[in-house]
Amino acid sequence: MAQTFDTIEKYPGLSMEEARQALDAACAVAKADLGEFTDHFPSSNSFSGFYEPTENVEWTTGFWTGSLWLAYEHTQDPAFRKAAEIQVESFLNRIENKIDVNHHDMGFLYTPSCVAAYKLTGNETARKAAILAADHLAERYREKGNFLQAWGNPGEPKEYRLIIDCLLNLPVLFWASETTGDPSYREKAENHIRTAMKCLVRPDNSTYHTYFFDTETGAPLRGVTHQGNRNGSAWARGQAWGVYGTALSYRYEKNPAYVELFKKVTDYFVEHLPEDLVPYWDFDFDTGSSEPRDSSAAAVAVCGILEMAEHMDGEEAAPYLTAADRMLKALVDRCANRDIKTSNGILLHGTYARGSAENTCTDRGVDECNTWGDYFYMEALTRRLKKWNPYW
Ligand code: GLY
Repeated sequence: MAQTFDTIEKYPGLSMEEARQALDAACAVAKADLGEFTDHFPSSNSFSGFYEPTENVEWTTGFWTGSLWLAYEHTQDPAFRKAAEIQVESFLNRIENKIDVNHHDMGFLYTPSCVAAYKLTGNETARKAAILAADHLAERYREKGNFLQAWGNPGEPKEYRLIIDCLLNLPVLFWASETTGDPSYREKAENHIRTAMKCLVRPDNSTYHTYFFDTETGAPLRGVTHQGNRNGSAWARGQAWGVYGTALSYRYEKNPAYVELFKKVTDYFVEHLPEDLVPYWDFDFDTGSSEPRDSSAAAVAVCGILEMAEHMDGEEAAPYLTAADRMLKALVDRCANRDIKTSNGILLHGTYARGSAENTCTDRGVDECNTWGDYFYMEALTRRLKKWNPYW
């Protein structure tokens, strides 16, 4: 345990002016990128500081469009809206033609891009695309086990598992029920949350990344990591998905048990931060380690805390808000890109994947920008600056 809520409180806080300047700077980077990334999308992670243009593939393109919507909200610059609207068309094409969508990440893809577009501008193409994405995600629901299968062909035994990240894919289902009046999306999301909460949080409040189920009986089998250092360790971004995922679960269900789970997983996250408050990619590593950081994990966790604080009373929320403020200050001071000549990303020092003896990953996007780190950093700053109507 590297921190307590008392030690964190002593770190410097982020003033409103600093937050505003940081979001201005992030929007300036996004504006400079529009030429390259309007008809194309940035790659999931940067390479030596620079994103490369890709088609609308992988689970990560929605974050760029979401960053454009956040930039539009902050600046009212129509150039951001225009680019985001062009990308909404691409998202409709992607789901209609089922391009690289044999996985559960419909929420990551369609919430910050299309649900945001619909909420902000009433864009009907975006609404259509997001409902199709919700339909597609709902098809991954497995009755045997009551969960949404993350990867692979639905029902395939070697991929019969859920992953903690999926908690952020559920808001598109809740939204689909709201906008269509069909409760079935919401029911699947609620069942998935119940299953995930039972399996993923360990007695020490760290979390499993993925959890397997028996295809015949639906019985929970075992927790296994995919991107963490060990099966039993806390992958920093997985823990952060847990922080934001429990907060969003509470937002939609108002189940008091999810407040308690939020506190548990958030306490673990905060108490395992290193001295400079930018987490290493796995909480196996602490101050002084030569392992890389994952700034995106901190950005996601800050958003989760700022979401949950809206549902807690002032006294209960205070230590969490202080921790979020100090983490965000650390991101602004240590990880924000200040020079578009050396990077076209917004938040430096993320890690997409790091290979280890116990996981099956190879190094990817290590100490680089990634599109979700950029997005959640901008969302965190937005939440800090105003009462924000979430896309999630
Ligand atoms: N959702 C995949 C990741 O966080 O890398």
